[in-house]
Amino acid sequence: MKLILLGPPGAGKGTQAKMLTERFGIPQISTGDILRAAVKAGTPLGQQAKACMDAGTLVPDAVVVGIVRDRLQEADCQAGFILDGFPRTVPQAEALDATLAGLGKELDAVLSLEVDVEALVERLTGRRTCRECGRGYHVKFDPPRQAGICDACGGELFQRDDDQETTIRKRLEVYQAQTAPLADHYQKHDLLTRVDGMQEIGSVQQQLLAALRAA
Ligand code: AP5
Ligand code: MG
Ligand code: ZN
Repeated sequence: MKLILLGPPGAGKGTQAKMLTERFGIPQISTGDILRAAVKAGTPLGQQAKACMDAGTLVPDAVVVGIVRDRLQEADCQAGFILDGFPRTVPQAEALDATLAGLGKELDAVLSLEVDVEALVERLTGRRTCRECGRGYHVKFDPPRQAGICDACGGELFQRDDDQETTIRKRLEVYQAQTAPLADHYQKHDLLTRVDGMQEIGSVQQQLLAALRAA
């Protein structure tokens, strides 16, 4: 299964992608996670990406397009993949179309998580992530059993640098201007399904599975 999870910052792309990877045994490809790993490792890619990420703006198309093109050719993507946070601009979507055509592959579905702006801000300001295994939590909506500690591995939970309210609002603006138009692109290709992302995590998951059965 080859799918894209579309949606604004905080819509639940990462949360839902992790559940879908476990269920279908296909990898989650999160450009945000790849870029954050590069920043942490201090690679040239990370040095280039850091300023954009801290400002809440997008890393240049050519950079992320190259990352995804290489990643899609790895062996674990043969049976399918879940793209999370890519594409984010019309040129990225067009580059993805060309890459997939070159590999003889076609997308099965583009699932768009729809969530109100104020709910997004609340989700992002309360998000916590495990430093060791990457599992996501929310202080109110999906709290760990013990504050600050990962249920799965005992790792320390941290708050992302870009989850401060001013940066969050900038990311939401950038999303409206540059990423929201992608819904049209995929609607034209008859691939888009909109899902009500305002429901609780488990019921969003059920809606996604139903949309995939229908795709
Ligand atoms: P990225 O890491 O992709 O961030 P994002 O798109 O802003 O999305 P988030 O990861 O913030 O949100 P999410 O939808 O994954 O939500 P989550 O599941 O965690 O990108 C970061 C930066 O990298 C960008 O700003 C840019 O600079 C750069 N970048 C990345 N990709 C790029 C690209 N393609 N091109 C250019 N630049 C790129 O959930 C959020 C919180 O809500 C969690 O706490 C969770 O527990 C909670 N939650 C989830 N679902 C629910 C629910 N149903 N009800 C209540 N709470 C919920
Ligand atoms: Mg994410
Ligand atoms: Zn953990």
